[in-house]
Amino acid sequence: MIDFRSDNTGRAAPQLIEALAAANDGTALGYGMDPLTAQLQERFAQLFETPVRVFPVPTGTAANALSLAAICPPFGAVYCSADAHINTSECNATGFFSGGAKMVPVTSEFGKVDPAALEAAIAGAGKGLAHKSQPAAVNLVQATDLGAVYGLDEVAAVAKVAHAHGLKVHMDGARFANAVARLGCTPAQASWKSGVDILSFGVTKNGGLLGDAIVVFAPDAAQQIGYHLRRAGLVWSKMRFASAQILAYVRDDLWLELARGANQAAASIAVLVRTLPGVTLVAPVEANELFIEMEPAALDALQGSGILFYRRGPRLGRFVCRWDTSAADIDALAGAIGRCANLKA
Ligand SMILES: Cc1ncc(COP(=O)(O)O)c(C=O)c1O
Repeated sequence: MIDFRSDNTGRAAPQLIEALAAANDGTALGYGMDPLTAQLQERFAQLFETPVRVFPVPTGTAANALSLAAICPPFGAVYCSADAHINTSECNATGFFSGGAKMVPVTSEFGKVDPAALEAAIAGAGKGLAHKSQPAAVNLVQATDLGAVYGLDEVAAVAKVAHAHGLKVHMDGARFANAVARLGCTPAQASWKSGVDILSFGVTKNGGLLGDAIVVFAPDAAQQIGYHLRRAGLVWSKMRFASAQILAYVRDDLWLELARGANQAAASIAVLVRTLPGVTLVAPVEANELFIEMEPAALDALQGSGILFYRRGPRLGRFVCRWDTSAADIDALAGAIGRCANLKA
């Protein structure tokens, strides 16, 4: 099976499975009162070089929606890229959990919020007018939904605009590991040092089993978030297993090693197909995803050849590399694209 459908289709890293088995010993208090969850708090403070609160949650959608619910009132506006996962693919979970927040797409390229467009959108939002949703938060997706990675200066530029207007900055880091691996920076630089107040820290897509985490840098948001999570039914009772998984994920930089593997696979495919006639990479390949435009007949043939991937329209295919994408998978995809690329209807 040559599978480029999603980073959700892959295996969990064995180190995480082993950590679950190791945590399955004796008794421990529930709801995060256990020693492993205490360790997780300490470990993340170390990892991010600042005091943080970490909340393991079941899904990336929960991480996003509850992070935003904690920093956005029911009458608030969340600015984001039109391509942002919260705007396209989460069934308005943010609106639901916040009690009514509105997603407001602003101009973006390759899924990156443009700071000037954000400034204009906030300026025209009608701040203080009772008839208008009130600007409350900005959502950045890192790496973006189109496989690009914000530079640190780009994150900081968006955060500067947001903070100047009193908005908080949420980063959807479903692929935070891929972004940090790409940037070669510290997790602190990629988050709070660039102005991020609250982070959805992805685990599942990069070798995890059943959970992501919310990392809170702004202490005023942390007070609220526990209530939001509990009310939503999103607090694991056997939290020690969720925490064990995440501890193993960041131990000895495993998370970055896994992400480097996925990024490298995508970069190798890009090199192999970039110059083929009939093939266009429509976004920079900076993380683990490729968005490839080809003739509809060529994409049909590629699907017919047994390669699994998702279509994003008649001419556009999305190909996602995972930590466990093999050299054979890379060669098979590049070879098949080479054979199909020139087919026309
Ligand atoms: C950028 C991004 N954010 C959030 C999510 C949500 O994750 P989940 O499907 O675990 O809710 C995804 C999943 O595809 C994603 O791609």
